Amino acid sequence: MNLQTIADDIVRELQPRLGEGKVADYIPELAKVDPNQFGIAITTVDGKTYLAGDAETQFSIQSISKVFMLTLALGKIGEAIWKRVGREPSGSAFNSIVQLEHEHGIPRNPFVNAGAIVVTDIVLAGHAPREAIGEFLRFMHFIANDETLSIDEKVAQSEQRTGFRNFALANFMRGFRNIHHPVDHVLGVYFHQCALMMNCVQLAHAGLYLANHGTNPLTGFSVVSPRRARRINAMMLTCGHYDGSGDFAFRVGLPGKSGVGGGILAVAPGKASIAVWSPGLDATGNPALGSVALEMLAARTGWSVFAG
Ligand code: DON
Repeated sequence: MNLQTIADDIVRELQPRLGEGKVADYIPELAKVDPNQFGIAITTVDGKTYLAGDAETQFSIQSISKVFMLTLALGKIGEAIWKRVGREPSGSAFNSIVQLEHEHGIPRNPFVNAGAIVVTDIVLAGHAPREAIGEFLRFMHFIANDETLSIDEKVAQSEQRTGFRNFALANFMRGFRNIHHPVDHVLGVYFHQCALMMNCVQLAHAGLYLANHGTNPLTGFSVVSPRRARRINAMMLTCGHYDGSGDFAFRVGLPGKSGVGGGILAVAPGKASIAVWSPGLDATGNPALGSVALEMLAARTGWSVFAG
């Protein structure tokens, strides 16, 4: 199996479809991104990277940051996190508020916006917002093995000005005492984690610990235990694409986390970490061409976790 050929073929075959989907425009700064781009990077657990297309162009990781903040929060309070956030797919949109009232301010899972905001509140404990952002950024430098990663302040400010639904979610949960810090502090951190800029190669490197039993094979450093890596992968498979999670599992069969910046991080446990990026989104807010690319990759490699 030649992974470079597979990556090159995917880029060539998707060329006529570039621009499919709709770029996220509810965050004004993201609406400026050229939709006619596609990149893919595959890093295997033996440390080799295969890249094609716009794999070295940076984009806003948005909700993919929720995987890394979940990892940080689990490191801080461990299993106690599950008292404040569930582990079930929501079957509703990433920014939905509908279940929160019935379920007493406990979000369905850590990847819907409400759940991610609770996770950020956990990481914020004992810190000023600026310190929590610094902790997140240092963690990303550590797992990506790349000290150049930085946050796009313009994207963070753009969402700060327009993130009305997130303010509603956070205030609603504060009413249920499931947010412990001032809402503007929690969302200040949340908008900054979402505004981290990465390219596909950097993202594939950062996700390697999830593909390699919790240890980053590029550095040899342990990030989480094998059990924790397995559980984060399970959350990504069942909840990583919101109400598109079932379809993503059906078509791709890999744990994955999407972002409205157009990126997807996918994990082939024991084999590779894969990042794809295409700015256009489908009706569920997930990258349109990115999931097609991963479907092709899974079919050609046999990497689906259901392949046996
Ligand atoms: O909170 C938001 O709406 C964005 N910062 C992140 C949403 C997102 O990426 C959803 N994923 N597809």
